[in-house]
Amino acid sequence: MAAQSPRSGALIRPARVEDAPAIYALLATFSTEGKLLPRPVADIQARIANFLVAELDGSIAACGALRDFGNNLNEIRSLAVRRDLAGQGIGSRLVGALLAKAMERTGGEQGHVFALTYRVAFFQRLGFRIIDKYTFPPKIWSDCCVCPKKDHCDETAVVIDIPVSDELLKTE
Ligand SMILES: CC(C)(COP(=O)(O)OP(=O)(O)OC[C@H]1O[C@@H](n2cnc3c(N)ncnc32)[C@H](O)[C@@H]1OP(=O)(O)O)[C@@H](O)C(=O)NCCC(=O)NCCS
Repeated sequence: MAAQSPRSGALIRPARVEDAPAIYALLATFSTEGKLLPRPVADIQARIANFLVAELDGSIAACGALRDFGNNLNEIRSLAVRRDLAGQGIGSRLVGALLAKAMERTGGEQGHVFALTYRVAFFQRLGFRIIDKYTFPPKIWSDCCVCPKKDHCDETAVVIDIPVSDELLKTE
């Protein structure tokens, strides 16, 4: 389906510092609705090396970040696709690219990539499984203090083991 879409030509690439304002603006369209955690632009700039973006016609169509918790544990976070481009496979391709990035970090060793999400079916379709979020080490909760839902977190944790199959890593 994605191959037939004229939008499927979005280029997935590492983010650059100058992308930070566009990433901030994209995330804000969802964080104001409570779908994603808000992130200050300075935080995005400071952690820009964690971000990948999908660029389409010279503008940022999607973004996603990979946070490294050590011990081959990474988190996909700040994953967002522009609303007018949703359902065209860009989010799936971006997750594939983030998994490839996680595998680069682990150097081929076994590890895990998790996400805290409201879009469980989206991640399950890509091979993630639901996991009890409290099995993760306490340090993953470091960001939760800024979350308006910190005392009643209703996100679901999903996880996938890496390395994953080549099929999932296709980003073209
Ligand atoms: C969740 C999100 C990243 C998905 O991005 P996306 O580009 O729409 O994702 P895809 O197109 O790859 O897949 C989305 C759906 O479209 C369908 N789809 C996939 N490729 C498709 C295509 N080429 N054409 C039509 N539909 C397609 C899939 O069945 C999928 O359905 P599902 O979510 O019910 O499983 C995006 O909707 C988003 O930014 N949401 C708001 C922020 C958010 O919740 N982020 C996740 C936080 S962890």
